[in-house]
Amino acid sequence: MAKLVINNENKKSTIAPEIYGHFSEHLGRCIYEGLYVGENSDIPNVNGMRKDVVEALREMKVPVLRWPGGCFADEYHWMDGIGPKEKRKKMINTHWGGVVEDNSFGTHEFFELCRQLGCKTYVNANVGSGTVREMSEWVEYMTFNGVSPMADLRKENGHEEPWVVDYLGVGNENWGCGGNMRPQFYADEYRRYQTYVRNYNGNKPIAKICCGANVDDYHWTKEVLDTCFDHTPEHFHGFMDGLSLHYYTLPETEDDWNFKGSATDFTEEVFYQTLKRSYFMEELINKHGAIMDTYDPDKKIGMMIDEWGIWTDVEPGTNPGFLYQQNTMRDALVAGMNLNIFNKHSDRVKMACIAQMINVLQSVMLTDGEKMIKTPTYYVFKMYRHHQGATLLDSSLVGNGTVGSEKNELPKVFESVSEDADGVITITLTNNSLESAEDVEIQLTKDGASYKVCEAVFVSGKMNAYNTFENPEVVKEEEFKDFNRTPNGITVKLPACSVVSIRIKK
Ligand code: AHR
Repeated sequence: MAKLVINNENKKSTIAPEIYGHFSEHLGRCIYEGLYVGENSDIPNVNGMRKDVVEALREMKVPVLRWPGGCFADEYHWMDGIGPKEKRKKMINTHWGGVVEDNSFGTHEFFELCRQLGCKTYVNANVGSGTVREMSEWVEYMTFNGVSPMADLRKENGHEEPWVVDYLGVGNENWGCGGNMRPQFYADEYRRYQTYVRNYNGNKPIAKICCGANVDDYHWTKEVLDTCFDHTPEHFHGFMDGLSLHYYTLPETEDDWNFKGSATDFTEEVFYQTLKRSYFMEELINKHGAIMDTYDPDKKIGMMIDEWGIWTDVEPGTNPGFLYQQNTMRDALVAGMNLNIFNKHSDRVKMACIAQMINVLQSVMLTDGEKMIKTPTYYVFKMYRHHQGATLLDSSLVGNGTVGSEKNELPKVFESVSEDADGVITITLTNNSLESAEDVEIQLTKDGASYKVCEAVFVSGKMNAYNTFENPEVVKEEEFKDFNRTPNGITVKLPACSVVSIRIKK
């Protein structure tokens, strides 16, 4: 039996709600069909946003939404997406699927979506094929409240009040699709572009996110920080609030993007290999974090993991450029494990956006016409939502076993623990084993006997169990009953291949 020791007297960092963030790109059926169907659609909508999807997302609690890309961001010219819809430019989405982009979802629609979701806004600006002027005018359009060409234009387009931009990304993957830049060149560009991200009229300052590394490119992190990090008081926070990191888990291969593996048809060995590869996230956070620490020991700059998740081959018969993939219990474990890792590193990790919100890569929902299903990943995000804004508690597992073959060995159980403002403690655990349940004795160092379980839920199933439009509830959140009180806490039996959330209070 493993023992989970929770030191509830050792309160650590606040878990930024943004760790539970999402990413929506003009890619495949994420924006169009997934989130936005237009006001004239037969699918029930509010101002063009799908009602069923927005309702389910609100229940799951979305803290922040990143838009419009991704690679699309560095080809996006925001002026194409404002003004009367019938006059908006129609163009080809050259990056994703070669389909027509009619620009009917633009700046106004993005802020309307965020209003309906009740989430923060993260706009990713174009550095790769844009200009400083284009970016700074976008900021003016979105946030200036006085008399100016861009503020006037926004008003002409029907929005009197400025919006709040919480985060602004200065380019995306500028080492790749965002311009194939070398780190020194991007770093200089970052310095220049960010200068013109103005904070107007006492608007809440826009947090600026600098493009960080691809996976384990530690050289990029060092070079960019060398040029962009400035800790002098007048510049600090003027230069950079966050540095991004992108890491996708490819199940079958480390770098052959032509053969990533099926989303639903995989062996047990590939299951463990996928989890092992996903667990690499912890090493990435530690190593990039160590470089960040040398510049920023007080951890004022957030590590923003604004693209992560599992990337498989597309569903057979679908447009390869649409990145549409199914979502199984394997995805649930990838999500549960990574979110536990992010929580435990919440002193440095201040945001993480799973890619992508709907119909693309590791989505929380899938749609087919008017039908919508929730994926196993959806339930994990919902079960973990109580961690948002809570305080991480010190916790450690004693006697935790391992799973997987020698090549793909990883810990059996992953956990994280937090306490919210009302003193409710949330414990989330994954059992990565396909073979056996795991008994865990949970002990609190203080007042263990006075806590009672107030909510316990889980998802579990075969490693490749998934929901379909015909069978939408093969995997769903269920009540968890397999626990017992002990003098210092509780014992739980985690089913094989499961993600469990237990909440306790005095
Ligand atoms: O999420 C899909 C793509 O993956 C994004 O557009 C890009 O930033 C990354 O390479």
